[in-house]
Amino acid sequence: MSRTVLLLNGPNLNLLGTRETEVYGTTTLDDIVAGIEAHAATFDVAVESYQSNIEGELIDRLHAARGTVDGVVFNPGAFTHYSYALRDAIAATDLPVIETHLSNVHAREEFRHRTVLAAVCLGVVAGFGPDSYRVAFDALVRHLDT
Ligand code: DQA
Repeated sequence: MSRTVLLLNGPNLNLLGTRETEVYGTTTLDDIVAGIEAHAATFDVAVESYQSNIEGELIDRLHAARGTVDGVVFNPGAFTHYSYALRDAIAATDLPVIETHLSNVHAREEFRHRTVLAAVCLGVVAGFGPDSYRVAFDALVRHLDT
């Protein structure tokens, strides 16, 4: 059975590769998406990808995901820490969503320790750099298969 996973990325992640490279590394978002697409092909999983710096656009994309994708790997960027609107949108999708971060947010500034989204997500992956997306993707596909 073929499945579709949405890779959703929030604010400032379009700058990956050049943004705070000491924290986020030099891999670009295009590199990450291409790596997941190649990996997903071996599982017969289709990948859709969307990035926006705008909260409302991320909400619209989550709404559009309802009934069209099977699950979401979502790096919400700083919205993680305060967006109740994204939390409600995730809950409304009724889809498995994995909150994903490149950095270990719990080892950074205090404001990053809090996530208002995790409670409505299937799980959280943080701290493995670009590999966080791969770990989240694999966990999501495993979940879809069970
Ligand atoms: C991030 C962590 C967030 O705290 C930060 O605002 C980001 C990136 C990460 O992938 O580590 O933009 O989500």
